[in-house]
Amino acid sequence: MTMNDGIMETTAPKKRMLSGIKPSGDLTLGSYLGAIKNWAERADSYECFYFMADLHAITVRQNPADLRRRTLEQLAQYIACGLDPEKNTLFIQSHVHQHAELGWVLDCYAMFGELSRMTQFKDKSAKNADNINGGLFTYPALMAADILLYQPDYVPVGEDQKQHVELCHTIARRFNGIYGDVFKLPEAFVPKVGARIMSLTNPTAKMSKSENEDTGRVLVMDTPETIMRQFKRAITDSDTENCVRYDRENKPGVSNLMTIYSACTGKTYEQIQTEFAGMGYGKFKPAVGEAVVETLRPIREEAVRLMKDKAYLEGVYRAGAEKASYVAEKTLRKVYKKVGFVAK
Ligand code: TRP
Repeated sequence: MTMNDGIMETTAPKKRMLSGIKPSGDLTLGSYLGAIKNWAERADSYECFYFMADLHAITVRQNPADLRRRTLEQLAQYIACGLDPEKNTLFIQSHVHQHAELGWVLDCYAMFGELSRMTQFKDKSAKNADNINGGLFTYPALMAADILLYQPDYVPVGEDQKQHVELCHTIARRFNGIYGDVFKLPEAFVPKVGARIMSLTNPTAKMSKSENEDTGRVLVMDTPETIMRQFKRAITDSDTENCVRYDRENKPGVSNLMTIYSACTGKTYEQIQTEFAGMGYGKFKPAVGEAVVETLRPIREEAVRLMKDKAYLEGVYRAGAEKASYVAEKTLRKVYKKVGFVAK
């Protein structure tokens, strides 16, 4: 059997997968249709760990109340998207103290030159010129710790995080070279994207979770009214044919809407073309909006419900942290012993 993500299923024991998600809270329709939608079924084939990366979040200045709310909101949203806490280990990074501890150790095995070469560091320090702090610089060593603590086989990350996973390998290899086989080297795993969703107002750029609605983004938590408004003003193409036809190159706007409609309804491009034959863009846009509203409605309602059930969320992240720290502690003990710390 082939997984949706493109990796062959193997026989037991299950391979382990781990990923961190920065608590920005705002999931977009793009990340839902492109990735998260497929995560639920991963748990059938892999032992999955996902954590809310709040330690990473403070490398840029955060409003404390917002960070707290967004961390919980993000957890609620991922559960609502189908990540079952019974089948996946879901936790909050700062609840598992081993991350910060191994992070410090690995700071001492990550070289200044290596950290200086990270694209994300260069980008972020350009954007936050008044707050180029040490944490922003050593971020990849903490990320290496996040990963190596769990000895995972796969680390699903976006394209922009591959360089960090490579640095994780460099650090792990350096450490293993000195102390023997302590860390397992995981594979970066860039999942096969479900659907590549572009901005509704600029269909040649990826849909981003910008705060500004004008950038043509739709959020999983948007109300039906907002979603409909976004689709009604979606950019279609300035060709004269005014017909729903898939052509990424010459009709990027309409093609993007077709991708979204197809992902929400399961219909093929051909079926969509037939369905809207002779109707023009004016009919098509609100139809896509409605399909999106119906796709996101149960997720939003469930996330809202979960956000009100603080006791449930607390149960989830506490149980998750307990499971995670059991695994993490084993690795940390081994590391402390190897580097020469006196046992407690
Ligand atoms: N740096 C990742 C991002 O910005 C989030 C992250 C933190 C992560 N620690 C991780 C991802 C460990 C994978 C594994 O998206």
